[in-house]
Amino acid sequence: MYILSPSILAADFKELGKEIQTVDKAGAQYIHIDVMDGEFVPSISLGMPVISSVRGTTKKVFDVHLMVDRPERYIQEFVKCGADIITVHAEACTHLDRVIQQIHDAGARAGVALNPATSLTALDYVLDKVDMVLIMTVNPGFGGQKYIPSCTDKIKKLRHIIEDRGLAVDIEVDGGINKDTVHTVLSAGANVIVAGSAVFGEGADEKVREFLEIMSGY
Ligand code: DX5
Ligand code: ZN
Repeated sequence: MYILSPSILAADFKELGKEIQTVDKAGAQYIHIDVMDGEFVPSISLGMPVISSVRGTTKKVFDVHLMVDRPERYIQEFVKCGADIITVHAEACTHLDRVIQQIHDAGARAGVALNPATSLTALDYVLDKVDMVLIMTVNPGFGGQKYIPSCTDKIKKLRHIIEDRGLAVDIEVDGGINKDTVHTVLSAGANVIVAGSAVFGEGADEKVREFLEIMSGY
């Protein structure tokens, strides 16, 4: 199943509720929420109070991407404020297996994200325990960056591994996805598409529909 997850990092924060409702009504299935702590990544974005306050604006899945060191400290709180999927970075967890368990115990779906330089081997012993893998297609920390081409091969390899092992794990991609690069990642085997700057701004509803139209061809 192909899913669009617009990243609100590129939305107009003074109209955040309305921005979310626009992409919701246009058909986006998830809302991608980037949490940055100024440690794991250089930037600081938003946290629980913002997520709680927009939770009532939509029934769509809150796809929360934690770019945070030692995320195990916050899992329950993020579920409480409305996260449906929590994705943690393999690089940020000393005890990744335990964090995945913690997310499931808290009642959310669990994702693991890999930075562009991190090998797929980081997933060897947890792939059968996660609901989604997030392949970062830029170095995390900022919206509006360019897609890193070496990530295409990584997506392909991961799709093969998932199929070989007979698993039902989603592959999400995040960073530099636009109407051109989306073809590359879909062909490579991604099925959850994050897009920030290519969706928000003028005509976000139209842009969501264009993405969904492209995705329906795969
Ligand atoms: C980057 C974030 C992304 C970001 C994507 O660190 O994880 O979700 O918002 O933005 P675009 O689509 O503009 O590259
Ligand atoms: Zn993200």
